[in-house]
Amino acid sequence: MNSLISIEKLNKSYDGKSDVLHGLNFSIQPGKIATIYGSSGCGKSTFLNIVGLLEDFSDGEYYFKGNRINSKRLNSYNTLRAQEIGFVFQSYHLIDSLSVQENILMPFLYNNLPLNSNVYSSITQLLNQFQMEQFQHKKVSLLSGGERQRVAIIRAMIKSPSLIIADEPTGNLDDINTSIVIRALQSAADQGTAVIVVTHNKQLSFNNADIYTLTNGALQR
Ligand SMILES: Nc1ncnc2c1ncn2[C@@H]1O[C@H](COP(=O)(O)OP(=O)(O)OP(=O)(O)O)[C@@H](O)[C@H]1O
Ligand SMILES: [Mg+2]
Repeated sequence: MNSLISIEKLNKSYDGKSDVLHGLNFSIQPGKIATIYGSSGCGKSTFLNIVGLLEDFSDGEYYFKGNRINSKRLNSYNTLRAQEIGFVFQSYHLIDSLSVQENILMPFLYNNLPLNSNVYSSITQLLNQFQMEQFQHKKVSLLSGGERQRVAIIRAMIKSPSLIIADEPTGNLDDINTSIVIRALQSAADQGTAVIVVTHNKQLSFNNADIYTLTNGALQR
């Protein structure tokens, strides 16, 4: 099967002198999960931001669905990013003053994607799947951490993206909510989404995940 993402010999330097990422190779196929471990400051978020087309890189090749990414023109990928990539962050990145449903719809409003009845039925279905239906019209500021993270995951999944990028998605959660998040990401993968998860939590166990450690700027299996 063709890789969704293929990265070869990637280097990233912030200061033009030392590389945070150096000679990094990575690929992932649709429906697969990659978990990435590594010490604080080793470059995990940098890697995710590059994969998510939010951050440029210095050298190397990055192919997304076979298209070569020009790292100096990240703005030209705004539509691709909006349609194909869902992000989940440790700190949720939700808008407190808006309701759960308004937050979930943000990717559509922000990127001018069409809001049709399929979108609303997907919201209902995902809210049910995550036992969040009673919160649909509640303000996010009134939710617990675990409930907020479920909203963030629904927001990432609502577009049926080909890739979900999760940066320590269970960092603030207890065991019960951690297992809800794991099941959610697993179910996205089972539906064909590629999932890349950075974590410090060695208990995160997915079926068939490829497990990597980021050390010395590169990913080791
Ligand atoms: N925008 C930036 N400008 C300059 N240096 C940066 C920038 N972002 C990150 N760095 C540096 O790059 C290195 C890697 O940072 P990164 O955030 O990718 O680490 P991380 O592995 O995600 O760490 P953590 O586990 O603590 O989240 C660090 O030394 C950090 O200080
Ligand atoms: Mg980080």
